Amino acid sequence: MPLRVIVGAQWGDEGKGRIVDWFAGGADFNARFNGGDNAGHTVTVGNRIFKLHLIPSGIIHPGMVAVLGNGMVINPRSLFNEIDELTQLGIRISPERLRISYAAHLITPAHQAMDKALETARGKDNIGTTGRGIGPAYTDKATRRGLRVADMLSADFSERVGEHVAETNLTLGLYGASALDPAPICAQFREYAERLKPYIADTSLELEAALQAGKTILVEAAQGTLLDLDFGTYPFVTSSSTTAPGALTGLGLGLGAARQASVIGVAKAFQTRVGSGPFPSELSGDLANRLRGSGSNPWDEFGTTTGRPRRVGWLDGVLLRYAVRINGINELTVTKLDILSGMENIQLCTAYRRDGNPVTDLPFGPADLSPYEPVYEQLPGWKEDVGTVRKWKDLPAAAQAYLERIASLAGVPIRLVSVGPEREQVVEKE
Ligand code: IMP
Repeated sequence: MPLRVIVGAQWGDEGKGRIVDWFAGGADFNARFNGGDNAGHTVTVGNRIFKLHLIPSGIIHPGMVAVLGNGMVINPRSLFNEIDELTQLGIRISPERLRISYAAHLITPAHQAMDKALETARGKDNIGTTGRGIGPAYTDKATRRGLRVADMLSADFSERVGEHVAETNLTLGLYGASALDPAPICAQFREYAERLKPYIADTSLELEAALQAGKTILVEAAQGTLLDLDFGTYPFVTSSSTTAPGALTGLGLGLGAARQASVIGVAKAFQTRVGSGPFPSELSGDLANRLRGSGSNPWDEFGTTTGRPRRVGWLDGVLLRYAVRINGINELTVTKLDILSGMENIQLCTAYRRDGNPVTDLPFGPADLSPYEPVYEQLPGWKEDVGTVRKWKDLPAAAQAYLERIASLAGVPIRLVSVGPEREQVVEKE
């Protein structure tokens, strides 16, 4: 399909970056439509590890055009750091290869200070945000006082930045946080504007033209379905639409584009979450440490953006089926199967129980999961290291059975399975 949307089917960190990389070969464009530098997508190629926060992972493929869509919130400082890091790693970045929507919103130090102040005020009920200013930037967008990328082209941009900082200072004061000095921020944003100008584009128009011309677009969602502002574990969510339908509004594509789209959901072979909020199948103790890893490998379960240890648990089939429905997922990719090698048994959450009764669908979404208790099905584990397996038939029978059970619970087929962090450590089901 010309429009391939890759979404996280859990709470983010499913390994979308490397799956985008897998599909990038045949695509012309790679677009992000939501979030900002709260995301952390990792791609490992030989001894080079690319950690991307804002720029779509496909940028590492020469010839691919990367797009930052109107639904995003962009911190120019992070963007330029990322451009510089990628350039050092030998990736050529030019305005021809990186297109930034004029309608995306900007993140400033005032948004970051506000994020911190709000989290401090929430105390023990904090969301555990990444501290990147995401929520406050989207708040300004929704209250119609945000700064847009196109504002960088205006002669009075610097004054607008000053007004934004002064206005945010008033709210920071209400939370007992220190005010920021607008002057250095204005000066810094003037410089950012000069550097960003050549990249600013009407990406909605360009993507539409690309589809008309028969080109293919790979869309990369950030975060995961369960962090979606509408459909996630509200209020423990991010402030954007993380699901496949959000790709249309976040890129400025009409509903007609959906007819040309396929949706690939990415889920880990187990479940992780970083930050606060419900997690019915969460584990603790030795088993949790075993799944998380020690942190000595870049692929261990520690946040790419914040370095925080992730919470871990068994795969939750109820939430996976929900993600399939909300996104319209056509096929699944399961990542990190190798981490389960060596486990005697694996538990899979197939349903919940409420007041003694089984529940397989959530009546009011996943916001309040406290009345539910997970129901597990135990499946046999496998001893073999699967890292070198490249064909489905060579996976241990128990691993195949586990994957088939996930597919039957989700109601969609599994097409790809990753068995290690390297680019080629992927098993494609024929
Ligand atoms: P925010 O997006 O920084 O406002 O954080 C809101 C919630 O989303 C927190 O629980 C974060 O840990 C979580 N979150 C945000 N971005 C990511 C991500 O890329 N992966 C996993 N969790 C994320």
